[in-house]
Amino acid sequence: MPTIDYSTKIPNNVNLAEDRTLQRALEQWQPNYLSWWNDMGPDGSQGFDVYLRTAISVDPQGWAQFDYVKMPEYRWGIFLNPAEKDRKIHFGDHKGEDAWQDVPGEHRANLRRIIVTQGDTEPASVEQQRHLGLTAPSLYDLRNLFQVNVEEGRHLWAMVYLLHKYFGRDGREEGEALLERRSGQQDNPRILQAFNEPTPDWLSFFMFTYFTDRDGKFQLCALAESAFDPLARTTRFMLTEEAHHMFVGESGVSRVIQRTCQVMNELGTDDPAKLRAAGVIDLPTLQRYLNFHFSVTIDLFGADQSSNAATFYSSGLKGRFEEGKRGDDHRLHDQGYRILQVQGDRLVEQEVPMLNALNEVLRDDYITDSVGGVSRWNKVIEKAGIGFRLSTPHKAFHRSIGSLAGVKVSPDGRVVSQQEWNARVAEWLPTESDRAFVASLMGRVVEPGKYANWIAPPMVGINRQPIDFEYVRFN
Ligand SMILES: [Fe+2]
Ligand SMILES: [Fe+2]
Repeated sequence: MPTIDYSTKIPNNVNLAEDRTLQRALEQWQPNYLSWWNDMGPDGSQGFDVYLRTAISVDPQGWAQFDYVKMPEYRWGIFLNPAEKDRKIHFGDHKGEDAWQDVPGEHRANLRRIIVTQGDTEPASVEQQRHLGLTAPSLYDLRNLFQVNVEEGRHLWAMVYLLHKYFGRDGREEGEALLERRSGQQDNPRILQAFNEPTPDWLSFFMFTYFTDRDGKFQLCALAESAFDPLARTTRFMLTEEAHHMFVGESGVSRVIQRTCQVMNELGTDDPAKLRAAGVIDLPTLQRYLNFHFSVTIDLFGADQSSNAATFYSSGLKGRFEEGKRGDDHRLHDQGYRILQVQGDRLVEQEVPMLNALNEVLRDDYITDSVGGVSRWNKVIEKAGIGFRLSTPHKAFHRSIGSLAGVKVSPDGRVVSQQEWNARVAEWLPTESDRAFVASLMGRVVEPGKYANWIAPPMVGINRQPIDFEYVRFN
């Protein structure tokens, strides 16, 4: 394994070359990272030249440099947003005090856990998506997949940087463990369940990048408020990259819808069987995929009442989404929040202390945000003159975490019997045969400018390149 010139090979704005201890730690971690990438990164793609965006600095000119890169040679860099002078903690019990430039001893264990949990999702998604390159619907989409993958790799670097720099030996051990867990593996799975689900096809990938990368956005936004300044600055920069991942999801689903509607109009039918025979994904199947990804993703926010969430907030580790824009006292000791509970066969609202409900607060903010894209998808359907509308399911639907776990609730929010659930679940969640059908559409389209039959071409290319640009060269 070649050694690295840190001043050039790892673009960074953290003075890597001047911190010998950190440099040595990363020198030991880097070959293990590359061997993880070789084993678990995109399948069979190591020799391809991919038209990728690489961040070489955090300013507007530097963070989106486009060029052909072989992915194992991608320059995974370490970037923090510039420090804000005299930054103060702006929520929790330490509100008004100076932000921390180092980790206070009493918060060390919790901060480590937060960083490791975030860090674990990054390689997990690369593992979940590693076979998708073999069935890409176009070179444009293949390139977008690889872009997401290398940036999730960079996000792992971002978290490992914090672990190595601020958590000593414990941090180095966590850095190794992040390369050892495997998505979906029985003995050593990834930490969060949604990151152990397979991403078997491109419809799942688009739903994942729309819904689950958006969970990433909300977690990162909450951490961007942190009193631990290096964490806040790291996550702020990660958010600039996250936006593209959600774009890939939103535009991907939108193009699937567009193509389906086109064929619906050509054939004058909404019969799923006829549409499937024509090789496109019928809208009810899209709705079932949406239901699945939405429900699995909102579980990621955790239990609706959580004393950990209260501790993380009060001690300044993790804020709310857009904490700075809120007009309350940012301590929340006397505030309440309404959460959903089940009483008999009804869902009822119950007021609880807001500090304990902060997972629910973040989940509700997430839900508001994710509904936006769904209404943009509906515009595509509306424009095609078709009456069908997609919607996000009720937040109590298909939940596995918190007080709603285990309750059977329909997508429209009715508590239903086990019997009704069994009878109707095939209308609500993707069935084996839905998944088999979607899988049957997945073939590899690699001619520049050609797109698989089930998805419309994008409106514009990447970095103002045409849509028939050679985004990936196979050599
Ligand atoms: Fe990420
Ligand atoms: Fe992401």
